[in-house]
Amino acid sequence: MRSLFPYILCACATLAAQTADPAAPHLRKQGEAAQLVVDGAPFLVLGGELDNSSSSSLSYMDPIWDRMVALNFNSVLAPVSWELIEPREGHFDFSTVDGLIYGARRHGLHLVFLWFGSWKNGTSSYVPEWVKKDFHRFPRGRLANGEAVEVLSIFAPANWQADAAAYAALMRHIRQIDGSAPTVLMMQVENEVGFRNAPRDRSEAADAAFRSPIPKELSDYLEKNKGVLTPEIRARWQAAGAKTSGSWESVFGSGPATDELFMAWYYARYLDRVAAAGKAAYPIPMYVNACLGCAGGGPLARVMDIWLAGAPHIDILSPDIYGSNFEVWCQRYTRRGNPLFIPEMHHSEDATRDMLLAIGQYDAIGTSPFAVDAIENPAASPLARTYALLQQLAPVILAHQGLGRLTGFVLDKDHPSVTREMGGYKLTISLDEIFHSHADIGYGLVAAAGPDEFIGVGAGFGVTFKPKTPGPSQAGLAGVDEGTYREGKWVPGRRLNGDEDDQGRAWRFSPDAPKIERCTVYRYQ
Ligand code: DGJ
Repeated sequence: MRSLFPYILCACATLAAQTADPAAPHLRKQGEAAQLVVDGAPFLVLGGELDNSSSSSLSYMDPIWDRMVALNFNSVLAPVSWELIEPREGHFDFSTVDGLIYGARRHGLHLVFLWFGSWKNGTSSYVPEWVKKDFHRFPRGRLANGEAVEVLSIFAPANWQADAAAYAALMRHIRQIDGSAPTVLMMQVENEVGFRNAPRDRSEAADAAFRSPIPKELSDYLEKNKGVLTPEIRARWQAAGAKTSGSWESVFGSGPATDELFMAWYYARYLDRVAAAGKAAYPIPMYVNACLGCAGGGPLARVMDIWLAGAPHIDILSPDIYGSNFEVWCQRYTRRGNPLFIPEMHHSEDATRDMLLAIGQYDAIGTSPFAVDAIENPAASPLARTYALLQQLAPVILAHQGLGRLTGFVLDKDHPSVTREMGGYKLTISLDEIFHSHADIGYGLVAAAGPDEFIGVGAGFGVTFKPKTPGPSQAGLAGVDEGTYREGKWVPGRRLNGDEDDQGRAWRFSPDAPKIERCTVYRYQ
């Protein structure tokens, strides 16, 4: 799907979106970046995800919308569950979906819907009662001792068929009421899937699939992509002899890692069928999210190739990043051309720094902290402050993503500086060190916005410049201003000089609070 560019395999679906409905949200490439296009223009998702149960009640949502606006979101990620939209088989109730769309519109917000269908966090608690009760028709996964678990089996066609029918009805409905002026931007298909109860499903159907040869689509993918596979899959595959046919254990060796690859394939195929049915009705971008600490076949970075091979209708594999190593996850989830979208993360101050890194350095389509309706005082929230700045800068960011003219960084005592080449200069970006005081943390995003012109946002860092193109060998600061963007126009505030730019030696962002600054440079020798 994404060997050279993200959507080689999903291009048909995305192109279909463009053909069928030019206004419909879709993904488009700009340089190396994938961008979400809404109403014909690129869009940066400054989002937040609601608690799991909030969007099930419109009256519960009533007071929440204003808080979302006060947090400076442009989008809200809201669950829509199978149990609520299809309470009786084939009888749909979209009143909550409609209310959410109208609520978002009234508040000038967009939505990303999370389809809580067959699974949410690995279990099947959101399936309708008629599915829960009919365990003969809708089989569960099983443990090695034969006991059933409350997890729909990925090996039962009746399960995906029922899920896909409901999801397609939902997408048809969204297209009907939202297709001409889209409020709904993207869909998340299921939530943090994976079999958590055992290394793999041990139902009869699962055992039979495990003993069978690996599917032809996977063989073909391995053959075609053998030079570009992610190292995790390549290592296992090569260690077992790099065969393109045979049983799962003969192609990948035996053990829990192979169980995970096997489950990943069948989860990918299941979700792909659900996504395909949804896209046939309304082809907007669709992604899946991963619980990074959970095995069981979810879209983890280590099984990425399996998902790319098995789920061509899924546009993005997304990490929910709660732990440390934020940047490592960004790196892993941008391999193989996968666009980065982070549907869940913390909303702490640290997390807001990471957002600038994800958007500036990894061309993220957007970010979305989880449980944002729990933020009681938006005015005091670091998230609101960061999103206010990003809202202003979004046009600059979107104009430069993917073109080698944008960078993001988080600096600390262990990683006090980075160098980046952009706009004809080498930039050395370091923790701010003036008056012998040292910032403990520095973070930001810088764009090479025009010839000798840079725009930055962040705090606690300084930038020096070295020319990298023919001409005078040294660079100085022509001028530094703090300011704001109002309706896309730069409105300068203070001219920063003297102590504020280290007597002309460095473009500085004080550690106090993040802000936007513009810097122009000149060359001499
Ligand atoms: C990750 C899940 O995707 C969310 O729906 C929620 O359950 C959080 N975990 C809770 O921390």
